[in-house]
Amino acid sequence: MQIFLDSANYAEVEKWLHQGVVDGVTTNPSIMFKDGVYDIEEGARRLCALLGERPVSIEVITNDHQEMIQQARMFARWARNVVVKIPVVNEQGESCLGVVNALNREGILINSTAILSFNQAILAAKAGATYVSIFAGRIADEGNEPAGVIRNVRHWLDDGGYTTKIIVGSIRTVMDIQNAALAGAHIITIPPQFLPKMVDHKYSRETVRQFNRDAAKALAHIAQARTVVAAKA
Ligand code: E4P
Repeated sequence: MQIFLDSANYAEVEKWLHQGVVDGVTTNPSIMFKDGVYDIEEGARRLCALLGERPVSIEVITNDHQEMIQQARMFARWARNVVVKIPVVNEQGESCLGVVNALNREGILINSTAILSFNQAILAAKAGATYVSIFAGRIADEGNEPAGVIRNVRHWLDDGGYTTKIIVGSIRTVMDIQNAALAGAHIITIPPQFLPKMVDHKYSRETVRQFNRDAAKALAHIAQARTVVAAKA
């Protein structure tokens, strides 16, 4: 399973990249805005250069299908590792699967996003999406069970021999990450603030404290023994 960072915060991405735990990055217009990236092109190019070959998802910002295609082509020219996010439907509920299909045939990698149901995910996979982004937190917001959706989509993709990968996003708690992993997510895209919570544990700290304390005692013991030997010599 891969871990992406759901962030446009360059410093955070760089920090966790150097920890060796980041396989890619996802953004959306809200994340860009929250992280102070107002110039999408500049922010996207910077992140793509930092990520090297790893994928970086950048989302189109229009309801119009033709404009989506034009924006996607432009984004794809910015860097080789750009993946274009196309919402599964626009604000009017019109299917954007034709956009996914057209761009896929041009060789542009598509992350079909804002997916909240099994049916949306399987249609996006059929249309040619490289990734389907299932929004776990938003599914749960509506009183539904994200793990069931993830599990069913994963079975369906595997049974059908699809290469489409599930990205689970909309992570709200550390437990969402564990649940998504166990349900069969290929990738989980995690807001950076959850990574310290994932890695830290107060009993791990206490364990390390005990080891360091005992190592210091052992060193003191050796030092004392050497002093005695030196005094006798
Ligand atoms: C990821 O690809 C999504 O854009 C993101 O996780 C959405 O998260 P939210 O539901 O917290 O806005």
